[in-house]
Amino acid sequence: MTSGVPFSRRAMLTAGAAALSTGLLGCSLRRRPLLDTVGAVPFDKPLHIPPLAASTLNRGARVFDLELRSGQTALVAGGTADTWGINGTFLGPTVRVARGETIRMNVHNALPEVTSLHWHGMHLPPSADGGPRQPIEPGTSWSPEWKVEQEAATLWYHPHPHGRTEQHVYRGLAGLLLVDDDYAAALPLPARYGVDDIPLIVQDKTFADDGSLIEGERTDAGLLGTTVLVNGTVGPVLTLTAERTRLRILNGSTARSYAFGFDDDRAFVVIAGDGGLLDAPLELRRVLVSPGERVEIVVTAAPSDLVALRSFPHDLGVSDRAAVDAGARDELDVLLLRASPVLEPSPQLPSHLAAEREEADSQPTAHRSFTLRNDRINGLTMDATRVDFDVAVNTSEIWEIENTDNAPHNFHVHGVQFQVLDIAGRPPAPELAGPKDTVYTPPDQPVRIAVRFTDHADPQVPLMYHCHLLQHEDRGMMGQFVVLAPGQQRVPLPPVVGGDHDH
Ligand code: C2O
Ligand code: CU
Ligand code: CU
Repeated sequence: MTSGVPFSRRAMLTAGAAALSTGLLGCSLRRRPLLDTVGAVPFDKPLHIPPLAASTLNRGARVFDLELRSGQTALVAGGTADTWGINGTFLGPTVRVARGETIRMNVHNALPEVTSLHWHGMHLPPSADGGPRQPIEPGTSWSPEWKVEQEAATLWYHPHPHGRTEQHVYRGLAGLLLVDDDYAAALPLPARYGVDDIPLIVQDKTFADDGSLIEGERTDAGLLGTTVLVNGTVGPVLTLTAERTRLRILNGSTARSYAFGFDDDRAFVVIAGDGGLLDAPLELRRVLVSPGERVEIVVTAAPSDLVALRSFPHDLGVSDRAAVDAGARDELDVLLLRASPVLEPSPQLPSHLAAEREEADSQPTAHRSFTLRNDRINGLTMDATRVDFDVAVNTSEIWEIENTDNAPHNFHVHGVQFQVLDIAGRPPAPELAGPKDTVYTPPDQPVRIAVRFTDHADPQVPLMYHCHLLQHEDRGMMGQFVVLAPGQQRVPLPPVVGGDHDH
């Protein structure tokens, strides 16, 4: 299966067909070629496991020091790339925090330009959110502090400077942010970081022959790469040492969705989505993960198994042309799992996972609708000085999001985890049933979510909602809202100092 042959016959054929159509039709009418890397990825490098970020205790807070820097990284053979990273030159350490503790993030910007650092999926005060309204000027630091008040989950962090998020993430700024809690820690789930609990940051990038990072194919969906990296490793191999291994998968790509599965079609068990555990383990053979989403799966291996994690062609609900342009027809080898000849026994998965949660409020205080079209939401493009609406603290709302484009979009809300109520009037797929902060919105299939704003009212600092295909977000497919306590009023927002880019 892993022939080590650099190009498969199929990849050669599609490349040839693409060259031919370029010649015949000229560049502007050229269709994006399909990408097929099945059998063509020489899996020969051990998967890099991001180190756990160090922390210190200071006046009751757990403190993390995160420095955003530029540097050079040898990602592929042939040379090095100019990359950005956190406490390193590419990607960042895994930040691990516990429910109930107060944390402080000392973020220092040693990059040559303004950026920000956003805690995607965190429930926190808006001023700590790290969105486009909390820019960090070069050479300066930003130190938000908050109490972790949410259940165990796989979250992540990445920059959010308006108009520049795609570029900053593509260059390497991203890391995982894991929340632990006592309840989840007591479940018999694989939980030894880097041993049987493995983070997988999946990204696609394009490299020049000299090893430098180049912006790849740009379509209406965004920036698509031709090489898949996992935790920054090209051609990654993960050695399995236990019968069951938990994979915490983050789609950290700028535009590409993945439909993950295994090359031998074995089933795996989904245990968690963006914001926490599912009620019960869910056996699947494919799982769709759009940009920004996370999924945790448990895979069972037999001794000496050799099995590849693959992304299969999938249905985004868009036309064939748009699907090709979004990479949804591509078939990509992602990661080789190589099981040791002797595997440690793992406990059986529990039949029930999540603790009791509050049901969605049957008396929502507001209904809102959001139309996603043409890089806009409800016809408007992001304006950092505009607040689109306010919500009352400690109330629930129902939001209906409809993608009316023939293009893939998803929808992400800052500061909360929401519940997907239905999609086109039908219950969501069971893997979407847990807490979510990002949801794929297929065209013409309205997605209804229940959102609850429990606390953290702040009339001065808005939270964002946006499409997480980063080209769309950067082009302005984003809006802002504020959470108000009784008696509070919206206040006019000043422009973002140093953080607004025109492009
Ligand atoms: Cu992951 Cu507003 O972003
Ligand atoms: Cu976010
Ligand atoms: Cu979009």
